[in-house]
Amino acid sequence: MPFHVFDNQELAAVKQVFESGELCSIGGTVGRQFEDTFAEMIGATRAVAVNSGMSALHCALYAAGAGAGDEVICDPMVQFGAMAVIYNNAVPVFADVRRDTHLIEPGSVRERITERTKAIICTHLWGLPCDMDPLMEIADEHGLAVIEDNAHGLFAEYHGRQTGTLGHMAEFSFQMSKHLGLGDAGIATVMDERFIDGVVDCSGINGLATFPKMMWNYRLNEVVAAIGLAQLKRAPGYVEMAIAHGEIYNRAVEDVEWIRAQHVPEGRVHTYHIWAGTFEGDRYGISYEAFKQALSDAGVSMGVGYIERAAYLHDTFTVPLAYGRGCPMFCPLQLHTPEYKEGLCPVAEDVMPRLLLTLTTNGTEETHRENAEKLRSVIQQFE
Ligand SMILES: Cc1ncc(COP(=O)(O)O)c(C=O)c1O
Repeated sequence: MPFHVFDNQELAAVKQVFESGELCSIGGTVGRQFEDTFAEMIGATRAVAVNSGMSALHCALYAAGAGAGDEVICDPMVQFGAMAVIYNNAVPVFADVRRDTHLIEPGSVRERITERTKAIICTHLWGLPCDMDPLMEIADEHGLAVIEDNAHGLFAEYHGRQTGTLGHMAEFSFQMSKHLGLGDAGIATVMDERFIDGVVDCSGINGLATFPKMMWNYRLNEVVAAIGLAQLKRAPGYVEMAIAHGEIYNRAVEDVEWIRAQHVPEGRVHTYHIWAGTFEGDRYGISYEAFKQALSDAGVSMGVGYIERAAYLHDTFTVPLAYGRGCPMFCPLQLHTPEYKEGLCPVAEDVMPRLLLTLTTNGTEETHRENAEKLRSVIQQFE
């Protein structure tokens, strides 16, 4: 389904890179132009382009100094932030979310802080900004770094400021399904200058390695950067389209008590990488199994449950060999072994299997209207 447009503009940009003979960011200039243009568009102090969103998360946490013996608080609705914590040999500690917004709950974050806490990763889930003011207040009180996982929220806003500029650092994913889809790519944005060198060091071996600094090789090549630079001109249009798609589903369920669209609090702009709602039909005597079957029979394009269970109940976190020799969570040298068990984040555990999700950064308005009409007709079967 066409959503992203690639035409002569992108071809011309790529041709220029080929003609320059510099396809690597070492020696090339396009990568830096992409970074600077992106930073200016969102209002960040610095942007560092990398080859994926995960690389950006890894580098942000590395720059924050998270390592063995440290804890990083993240939410359990997705696994990405917590995996990046493990990349850094630190331990993920999961905080609960709010039922209506699906976003990390600042009160739960506060409860999880210990003397080992180093950072907080908050996910602007589905494209809706987290409640950043209380999170930043907690972080300031305890000297923690805040990293926004903004894979879903390009150009989303919190009280007039863009996501990706609200914490100390942030991550964006440009994997193909996102608003800005470049195949695979990502960017780390930095607001606090103390962290710039760490992100830059981590992101790429640049040929001038000042050992013993640790560096990963996450450089973004010039070809993808050139496509990115051309696509940035189209990005505001992509975001506008995704919002329009999301609103189609909001309208489709607005009078349905048993399907609750993700709540968008005052002062926040949701940019809908995904439209999300929750199934509440069991509270009204409607069978979830029957509803899922009806969605499938009607051909409604809607995912149910996402990763189904809280991230900490998945093998990545519970099986000691998932990352190697039980480290870092079950490392014999670890000061404290976390217990990843049911009941840790009761709201997330209840919300996750109820999730109804539709990718809004794809298709056309017409395909989403048709899909929403099918959804309406399924809903009517149960009313
Ligand atoms: C919330 C979130 N964070 C991080 C990532 C990782 O991004 P990437 O696939 O570019 O590594 C994703 C990918 O889907 C994501 O959804």
